[in-house]
Amino acid sequence: MRKRASPAEAEIAEQLRKRTEELAEANRRRERLMSIVIHEIKGPLTIINGYAQILQRAITHGEVIDIGALNTIRDQVKRLARLMENLSDVNMIEGGHLELEKAPCDIVKLARSVVQDQQSTTQVHRLKLHAPKASIVGDWDCDRLAQALNNLISNAIKYSPQGGDVEVSIHRTNKEVAVEVLDHGIGIAPEDMPYVFEPFSRLYLKAEVRGMGLGLFITRGIVETHGGRIWVESKPGVGSKFTFTLPIEEPIHPSAGNSSIVIGPRATP
Ligand SMILES: Nc1ncnc2c1ncn2[C@@H]1O[C@H](COP(=O)(O)OP(=O)(O)OP(=O)(O)O)[C@@H](O)[C@H]1O
Ligand SMILES: [Mg+2]
Repeated sequence: MRKRASPAEAEIAEQLRKRTEELAEANRRRERLMSIVIHEIKGPLTIINGYAQILQRAITHGEVIDIGALNTIRDQVKRLARLMENLSDVNMIEGGHLELEKAPCDIVKLARSVVQDQQSTTQVHRLKLHAPKASIVGDWDCDRLAQALNNLISNAIKYSPQGGDVEVSIHRTNKEVAVEVLDHGIGIAPEDMPYVFEPFSRLYLKAEVRGMGLGLFITRGIVETHGGRIWVESKPGVGSKFTFTLPIEEPIHPSAGNSSIVIGPRATP
């Protein structure tokens, strides 16, 4: 007759079962992740290969070279380079060694420039910036913050395919500055909310329009490495508001009033 497991043995068996299940899940995740990365690399490579063949044929037959083909190749190379940069950022953030090049950085000036750049990518959205008149300078990595803001604004545009206003607001308190990016787009389902900042969120979410699902993970990494926080409030069909904060040392300027700038195709002075 088989001896009944003692409570200690039963606990070990349960721990083993849990650990095996965790490893199996990690393995499934790694496989799904690899298939995403392979798919993301294969797409541009196939296009580059196709257009290179077209160019080769044209050169061989002494035909006029299609400049559009060359541009497509360059675009796809840029897409691959961006992918590699994102993967490298994810790697640094996951390993806890994202390094910041901190220097005095004016978040108002930075936001103005990013908003202007992003406005040039869309005709159907109107980007608005609500920011204090005075500059807000902190000891931050301006390039990394531009990357974070670009990620949030490009998401706001991408996930409001019907167009509409995208509003960026900057507020400051004594100890921190808060930056908000608000859209009136598709919003996020409550059950998806816990996963949006996960790396490769495509593994978890159901949304149809999307990229690799790295932007928000990298954005969170940048904000948190600065000692800040990031969160999202969202309602499906209504829109989303992403907010991040950054700690600030400089005391608040007494004359710092607010102003609104509307940057966009339908902008009025
Ligand atoms: N403003 C938004 N409105 C609605 N859903 C959003 C918004 N921003 C992010 N999401 C959801 O969160 C997911 C993760 O966003 P994230 O920026 O990390 O990835 P992505 O946009 O899919 O790809 P990537 O930024 O790597 O090109 C998106 O796929 C989308 O489902
Ligand atoms: Mg994104």
